[in-house]
Amino acid sequence: MTDFLPYQAPSRGFAAWFGAKKNAFYANLRVQDLASRIPFLARISRKEGEAIFQLMSGFVDTQILLTFVRTGALEYLYRGPVLLDDLAESVGFDPEETAILCRAGQALGLVKVKHNKVCLARRGALVLGLPGISELIDHHSILYSDLTDPVAFLRGETDRKLASFWPYVFGNSGDLSEAEVARYSNLMTKSQFMVARDTLSVLKVPKNVKWLDVGGGSGAFVAEVLRQHKTTKAAVFDLHGTQDKAAAHEFIQGSFFDEDLPHGFDVISLVRVLYDHTDETVKELLTKVYTSLPKGGRLVVSEPMLGDPMPNRFGDTYFAYYTLAMNTGKTRSPRQIADLLSEIGFSDVKVHSSKRPFVTTVIESFKN
Ligand SMILES: C[S@@+](CC[C@H](N)C(=O)[O-])C[C@H]1O[C@@H](n2cnc3c(N)ncnc32)[C@H](O)[C@@H]1O
Repeated sequence: MTDFLPYQAPSRGFAAWFGAKKNAFYANLRVQDLASRIPFLARISRKEGEAIFQLMSGFVDTQILLTFVRTGALEYLYRGPVLLDDLAESVGFDPEETAILCRAGQALGLVKVKHNKVCLARRGALVLGLPGISELIDHHSILYSDLTDPVAFLRGETDRKLASFWPYVFGNSGDLSEAEVARYSNLMTKSQFMVARDTLSVLKVPKNVKWLDVGGGSGAFVAEVLRQHKTTKAAVFDLHGTQDKAAAHEFIQGSFFDEDLPHGFDVISLVRVLYDHTDETVKELLTKVYTSLPKGGRLVVSEPMLGDPMPNRFGDTYFAYYTLAMNTGKTRSPRQIADLLSEIGFSDVKVHSSKRPFVTTVIESFKN
């Protein structure tokens, strides 16, 4: 390996020349060597080294987490500290492999190992305690198998299996089996907890409103609306098979591909719905929402979004790739969604700042 990467003449202009010079400077091993010996630069240099290592090794961390979830190790440890040998027996690994897993888990903050005993660390307890997280971690193996060849994935040369996990993206909503619907619906219901709380925490809801949650599945979101706002009347509009028959809210069965949305609601919410669909479908759906709302009616969009103005680690990596793997999906920035809303005719579009953008970002808009 040479000390220098080959320097290529800039194609044109000062910016291109400067950019190429800068790249050659950073990539120069002698510069890196010097930087690692100057105190302030050494810190930057070490941080960059760690960040590159993290980028390279992130998949291993993910698989360690998956092992803890899939073997039930976290649940086993929830009851209190156990001997390493007992954990080994419970998860079905040799004690030596179990010790490797537990040291790795300690490095990731999931467990703590002392002598030959293991206990849950705070992060491990949080993973267990947060509704839906274990299920989300488990179902990611489909996404990661889709990303085995990330180049072919981006070229559209692979069969994206994640799309089959969300079969409604194929548009044949009438043909979905109960098992297919139950599988994705359960995952959504369990992971709705944090989304609903973060969404409702930024909204001011007047008394006695009628609320329709379009694509609301089994109704976990409207259940939280009703819990927090007792005078609200709530309904869900979704496909056949998603209904929770024991729930308190009204269920209106239908597909927004084929049918208009019901009238008579003051608020309509789209929670984790838009990012499943193409711009064309989203425009049609937003038009239907606009038509069905009364004057002064409100639309609430809540879902994870791209970083705005700069890409971030949540929206622009994980969610952008996830929704791409669904074939019809697309993670959008708050500005892109706000533009779509304005194009349809919505006004007073407000993007609420998000405490946890990896959970959701909320946009409100009105029909005036
Ligand atoms: C990603 S899930 C989100 C569910 C729920 N809003 C949540 O956040 O937990 C998308 C929801 O949209 C529903 N959906 C998909 N296509 C639909 C259609 N054409 N008409 C009505 N609902 C649809 C699905 O059944 C599913 O419940």
